[in-house]
Amino acid sequence: MSIDLDWENLGFNYRELPFRYISHFKDGKWDAGELTGDATLHISESSPALHYGQQGFEGLKAYRTKDGSIQLFRPDRNAARLQNTARRLHMAEVPTDKFIDAVMQVVKANEDFVPPYGTGATLYLRPLLIGVGGIIGVHPADEYIFTIFAMPVGNYFKGGLTPTNFIASHDYDRAAPFGTGGSKVGGNYAASIEPGEKAHAAGYSDVIYLDPATHTKIEEVGSANFFGISKDGEFVTPLSPSILPSITKYSLLQLAEERLGLKPVEGDVYINDLDRFVEAGACGTAAVISPIGRIDNGDDKHVFYSETEVGPVTRQLYDTLVGIQFGDVEAPAGWIYKV
Ligand code: PLP
Ligand code: COI
Repeated sequence: MSIDLDWENLGFNYRELPFRYISHFKDGKWDAGELTGDATLHISESSPALHYGQQGFEGLKAYRTKDGSIQLFRPDRNAARLQNTARRLHMAEVPTDKFIDAVMQVVKANEDFVPPYGTGATLYLRPLLIGVGGIIGVHPADEYIFTIFAMPVGNYFKGGLTPTNFIASHDYDRAAPFGTGGSKVGGNYAASIEPGEKAHAAGYSDVIYLDPATHTKIEEVGSANFFGISKDGEFVTPLSPSILPSITKYSLLQLAEERLGLKPVEGDVYINDLDRFVEAGACGTAAVISPIGRIDNGDDKHVFYSETEVGPVTRQLYDTLVGIQFGDVEAPAGWIYKV
């Protein structure tokens, strides 16, 4: 490894790497795509992605294993989710083979930036699909760009495995009941910027959004899904059409049952019924598993396991998931793709 970075303290920051992948959709078909050193996109000022948010994105990571090889965690699931997002916004779909081939190319081309095993850091990949070209009415584009760029990252939330605090939002929603909350589109994140900034300024890691129809049930975090461990040994995650179908969450539902013997439950999580949980956390590609110390919901300040220590079940889930991702724990069939 020739690159010398402070791998243990990367945080979650953009870094321009030597190579990214880009492919253009025109006249009804994708071109072959190529690696490029150009980190700037050149698109029409009238691109629907810029005006009407006709875009979608993904997030996945490449992991360095103990033997120095590199692997991906369930990239086929990211490809499938981007296809769902594309259908919701009437964008050209990127076939799964093309998506995975592009991920592989970007990882190999930037191999020196895949962090060393044991640092906890990973190479974060950001696939992006945008509608481009000169369209000024609110209609789907005829042309699309699919690009994937990458950067080495560490913790998304400052605490890592140390719990941090979150605030329930009663003044803002990130998604509407029949809106785009279940798709990975920029508009959902645009809606979360103001509440997110207010939360950060008040010392919280992020916002817990409630169901937009009744504001009584937890939906998810602005940048991750929510989970709780109940007193009865259940691994509980909210079920709602307006939350992002998290690949980490579905992986944890399976691992909680198969490896930890917990009962996996997708269902309602009422914000006024947090006493049912002995532990809670946020989960996602960037967030990994981030324990939630406390949720502030108006005047109610609800502490789960501890504000300073990760709970034992959350730690077990973390060790299992991260162990699989870095190749130290056997993965369920089909989850790991070697680069
Ligand atoms: N929810 C939101 C709003 C997210 O941005 C993310 C991150 O991708 C997740 C959940 C977690 O999804 P995944 O586990 O697929 O990364
Ligand atoms: C991810 O976890 O990959 C995401 O897209 C979350 C993002 C807000 C950083």
